[in-house]
Amino acid sequence: MKLRSIELALPHAAEAAAFLTDIWGMAPAAVEGNIHYLRGSGSYPYLVALEESADPYVRSTTFVCTADRLEQLKRSVHEAGLPAAPVVSGDLGGGHGIIVELAEGELLRFLVDAGEVAPIEGADLPVKLTHVVFNSADAEATGHLVEDALGFRVSDRTKGMVFVRCNDSHHSTAFARAGFASLNHIAFEMADLDAVMRGIGRLRDHEMVPAWGPGRHGPGANVFAYFIAPFGPGNGGPVIEFSTAVEKVPEDYQAGAPEDWTWPEKRIDQWGMSDKDFAGLRAAEEKFRHRRDWQVQPLNVLTEENH
Ligand SMILES: [Fe+2]
Repeated sequence: MKLRSIELALPHAAEAAAFLTDIWGMAPAAVEGNIHYLRGSGSYPYLVALEESADPYVRSTTFVCTADRLEQLKRSVHEAGLPAAPVVSGDLGGGHGIIVELAEGELLRFLVDAGEVAPIEGADLPVKLTHVVFNSADAEATGHLVEDALGFRVSDRTKGMVFVRCNDSHHSTAFARAGFASLNHIAFEMADLDAVMRGIGRLRDHEMVPAWGPGRHGPGANVFAYFIAPFGPGNGGPVIEFSTAVEKVPEDYQAGAPEDWTWPEKRIDQWGMSDKDFAGLRAAEEKFRHRRDWQVQPLNVLTEENH
């Protein structure tokens, strides 16, 4: 199971695509109808889809998995009683699978047979997405829900977050204890620490500074630099992140509790070299809510009888 892409809808999608290619550092993949597809250097056909829309919202966050894993998911999603539907992806790369709505409206799509493309060598692009984080009214409940219904595993709990993995990467998603449901941020995996720093430099060329970072987190130990994307409505959003070097964890990793993840005074990351724009980040994190644009349908779960 791997995180592949996020599909957003927003006003002025073409301007957003221009920022992500010309300044953030992605490559254009395709424009199909009113959707701009942007890719990284890795083998996924796109990482971010931007669909023109009057309002900003998250259409889906997409994972790719094996056919066996998809059948497991169909069973566990069906048993958990979550709203879901079979899907055939109309997005770049195609594929088919299911889309699921979690308790607070988060829309996760799981695909098999999605196409891949030749990696791009020698360009300073993000490689892939490394995590997509959501704000939750009840992050603890959602952590339990994704373990039961999706077979994900909680890696760590902190005062602010429930970190969740779907493979050996410490987290591919997380749920922030925010008190409301929305997209918290999208993190791009950079090739190494230098690539993160060069990214910060590219944005500095355009008078943009990190809303938090550079720094190194506790859980996952990944390097981060968070920016408020300039393309969202109002003062911008969503929050986007250059990241690298998230920890790999073993299957029997013992989930830490909030009391295991405390900081010394004046520290909220390992380096302590930057301030955090709490208010700016919070406003940008509220811009993209979840919106379901599909009807619930049976998942055709394979049973012993019809297998
Ligand atoms: Fe992050």
